[in-house]
Amino acid sequence: MVERIKFEFKSFGKPGGGSVVVFVNDALETGENAAGALGPEVLATIARAATAEAFKGKLKKVLVIAAPQGIEADRLVVVGTGPAADLAKLDWVQLGGIAQGHLSGTRASLLVALPGHDVTPEAAADLTLGMQLRAYTFDKYKTKKDADEKAAKPLKATLFVSDPAAARQVAKAREAVANGVLTARELVNEPPNVLYPEEFADRAATLEKVGVDVEILDEKQLKKLGFRALLGVAQGSHREARVVVMRWNGAGAKDQPVAFIGKGVTFDTGGISIKPGAGMEDMKGDMAGAACVVGLMQALAQRKARVNAVGLIGLVENMPDGRAQRPGDIVTSLSGQTIEIINTDAEGRLVLADVLWYAQDRFKPAFMIDLATLTGAILVALGQEHAGLFSNDDTLSERLAAAGRETGEKVWRMPLAPAYDKMIDSKFADMKNTGGRYGGSITAAQFLQRYVKDTPWAHLDIAGTGMNAPQTDINKSWGSGWGVRLLDRLVRDHYEG
Ligand code: BES
Ligand code: MN
Ligand code: ZN
Repeated sequence: MVERIKFEFKSFGKPGGGSVVVFVNDALETGENAAGALGPEVLATIARAATAEAFKGKLKKVLVIAAPQGIEADRLVVVGTGPAADLAKLDWVQLGGIAQGHLSGTRASLLVALPGHDVTPEAAADLTLGMQLRAYTFDKYKTKKDADEKAAKPLKATLFVSDPAAARQVAKAREAVANGVLTARELVNEPPNVLYPEEFADRAATLEKVGVDVEILDEKQLKKLGFRALLGVAQGSHREARVVVMRWNGAGAKDQPVAFIGKGVTFDTGGISIKPGAGMEDMKGDMAGAACVVGLMQALAQRKARVNAVGLIGLVENMPDGRAQRPGDIVTSLSGQTIEIINTDAEGRLVLADVLWYAQDRFKPAFMIDLATLTGAILVALGQEHAGLFSNDDTLSERLAAAGRETGEKVWRMPLAPAYDKMIDSKFADMKNTGGRYGGSITAAQFLQRYVKDTPWAHLDIAGTGMNAPQTDINKSWGSGWGVRLLDRLVRDHYEG
């Protein structure tokens, strides 16, 4: 895996060599502590360069000054934070990403201060999170790296802050979250010949090292338990299916757990209802839900969250083959309900039906949230800005929406209703696995709801957000790791004792 940035925290003082990052508002003022550490000569240089470059300290704008006088550093990175009045609302994760994008070399000093505004330890820690997220790249399969990349050594960053001990402590928790996001991204980026269900399960098992209890159910066990809907999808592949159960017990033994469930289709050809060739390579990312659950469990464990959480992922490969499932087949799911297969490309819901049922039955969770790259239709509806949220519970929905606003991993609630549910009634079985052309994301969610009893439940359709992600200040990677920060935040805000 990639080299992570090493952080240290200090009280304000003279910054060292490499890059120096300073934050200014739209009056080009930085905090008193930072101004003191830089000295009048450097501040005058910033003022001159700002005029020369018409830099006005607007939010997210950056001024880079090479070889500045009066300071050891060979690059001064001035990051605008906009109007003074808005400073309390700043997104320090994003600012960290922006700063990181302008660093060079192996050392950086960040003067974390703004005028008339106490930059909190949380904000400083968020800055480190944004830097880690921005620094991630996936290039392990490139054998020819350019000279720059070859020479790149891990970055050592010093944050100058008003309360180093407090910032150091919060940053430890943020590092756990960063690790979780990067784990999820790495899994999504891996090619499907490398990352098939067994290999995915083995990687999930490495969470044992951070204190997660990991149990792998193999095909023999799944058959015995009755995961027939899930196994029906897997039967066209030479790769065996797996279900992984991950448990983090950070609260009291009697605390009801919360459950996270992920779709882990390591490659989705569509099966016998085969997909068109163009863009099919993207279907290596059809396990982004499962990747998020693994990343989340890692984050919760590494920051020792005071919650009992269980993560369950259904891992299969959807392939066309002589043994593959056919349209017209009828399978009996773990719940006992029967499903007529109309389209073998609607496979994610078949996998989740059994895993959702199993999660409820075995763990009696306080709530459960599933994540799945479930439908192309959610891309048509919401683009790549919001994940689709479907839920039987208004409180859980509102909490997810709030966590979305706080982290920038936004969700948009979509409807569930009996009239949509009717669209998946089948002539021959209890239900069919597709509902026709209209409302494709909704009928998929209605299908899942048939496997939910009265547990508060939310389904996140992340086909638009989990993979093939648009580039942002904190993500340059195809696999976004979407959902790890959202769900970590949900747990942090509402479910830690
Ligand atoms: N994995 C796909 C959904 C998907 C599409 C994910 C685009 C990421 C990007 C899913 O298994 C699928 O094929 N869904 C079908 C459902 C249809 C057959 C009812 C779809 O969306 O076309
Ligand atoms: Mn499919
Ligand atoms: Zn799929």
